[in-house]
Amino acid sequence: MTPRTIAIDGPAGAGKSTIGALVAERLGYLFLDTGAMYRAVTLAAQRRGIDPDDGPTLTKLAREVRVNIGPPTVRDGRAYTVLLDGEDVTWAIREPEIDRIVSQVARVPYVRDAMVEQQRALAERGRLVMVGRDIGTVVLPKADLKVFLTASAAERAKRREEELRARGQVRPRQELLQEILRRDRLDSERAVAPLRAADDAIIVQTDGLSVGQALERVFAVLTRADAREGPAPHGGQASRS
Ligand code: DC
Repeated sequence: MTPRTIAIDGPAGAGKSTIGALVAERLGYLFLDTGAMYRAVTLAAQRRGIDPDDGPTLTKLAREVRVNIGPPTVRDGRAYTVLLDGEDVTWAIREPEIDRIVSQVARVPYVRDAMVEQQRALAERGRLVMVGRDIGTVVLPKADLKVFLTASAAERAKRREEELRARGQVRPRQELLQEILRRDRLDSERAVAPLRAADDAIIVQTDGLSVGQALERVFAVLTRADAREGPAPHGGQASRS
């Protein structure tokens, strides 16, 4: 049986969202990019002028805002639409200022609790691909399949530069690399739900791979999981009796 719940974790820029969305599309599963939820709360905080290190105020904010992620409502290259209190913020949450402060907001324990609760509620609905940092370790520790998608920081900075250029933004690669290293550090060293591969995750290294090639690697892992979970050739019953 194809795994029902698929957790994809990994560092910033490893291609989780792109690959996750494609896996979900091919399987006809729901797709949830949990990073977008943390980004939406961060945008709300930024707009209200809340200090990203002000835990108590962020905690209150996370209780107040409504974040919804659903299928694309506009055909402009987006994989999904993100609503913040009903407003379309799909692109606003990708601005460099949000990149810069999102890891600070995401380390506040109650912000995480509020997001994790919503993520688990969504997973209850059935087949889905969920991507993030702590899906296999914290959000869905019983996920049927866990993939840890990763790439070197240099490779991730290169991809980010190309992605931005495609959207008409030019940023020096060295600067992007520094940002990636800083976010890796904040995401991996925080006290609550740090970025790490679950013990039972399958690591997929994507350095030098195209999106198509990385996708095929993930499907190879999925197929192996299928084979492992399939019924025994002549059923277990007979051998037990
Ligand atoms: O995947 P991303 O770059 O959009 O994630 C944005 C930030 O949100 C990232 O710096 C860490 C945080 N995040 C998290 O802490 N837990 C998740 N499950 C997903 C993202």
